[in-house]
Amino acid sequence: MIPSNKELSSFLKRKNPKMGLLDKLKVVYRPYICPFSVLLTEVKNVDSVFDIGCGSGQLLFLISEFTEVKKIGGVEIKQRLIDNAKSLLGERNTDFLSVYNGKDLPNEMDIFDAIMLNDVWHHIPKAQQDLFLREVYSKMKKGAILVFKDIDASSFWVHFNRFHDLLLGEGGGQELSLNEMIKISENIGFHVKNSFKKRQYWYDHYFLVLEK
Ligand SMILES: C[S@@+](CC[C@H](N)C(=O)[O-])C[C@H]1O[C@@H](n2cnc3c(N)ncnc32)[C@H](O)[C@@H]1O
Repeated sequence: MIPSNKELSSFLKRKNPKMGLLDKLKVVYRPYICPFSVLLTEVKNVDSVFDIGCGSGQLLFLISEFTEVKKIGGVEIKQRLIDNAKSLLGERNTDFLSVYNGKDLPNEMDIFDAIMLNDVWHHIPKAQQDLFLREVYSKMKKGAILVFKDIDASSFWVHFNRFHDLLLGEGGGQELSLNEMIKISENIGFHVKNSFKKRQYWYDHYFLVLEK
């Protein structure tokens, strides 16, 4: 059974990750504002998961702890966060974890059954979003799924997320609505297997499960 977000946060806290204070707070308390338990549920039956924009690796860590997933990988644009992720993942195989230029995804992505894109979209400049998603699509194997989550631009509460990103110096602000995201995904060739919304505190999230 997948733990609740509160249980996931307590689990991360007990692990006491070795990283800078702000990164550590983001890792430990993120399940309170980002519904990680939903993300884990979406990949609980696949063999391998690749996380684009994996941050400090907590999603991959939780996936490898609480699901049947056997192989993990991911990319990040910041070396510091990849170092955090490797430290958090400890003994687990991190051969498929690397820093990249934010544009050209690795070819090895095509060995993974599920790709995650969690709260990365609103950090990609609007003019580059379509090209970015095309690159994701082109590197996925046929039949693989993309589990996409972002903040809903059609919600009034999107301003709270923008304030949050501003406070944490994370950029962002490029959110789209669920309907806009569905149109873009279908134009690229994805089949929309599922889509739904979930509010956690004042954060309105939407999820898309997209199949290549
Ligand atoms: C809000 S954080 C989310 C981190 C992680 N996915 C999570 O849910 O915990 C956004 C992340 O996207 C990364 N990012 C920004 N632009 C990116 C790009 N073009 N490709 C991959 N990651 C990117 C940032 O470095 C940051 O780690």
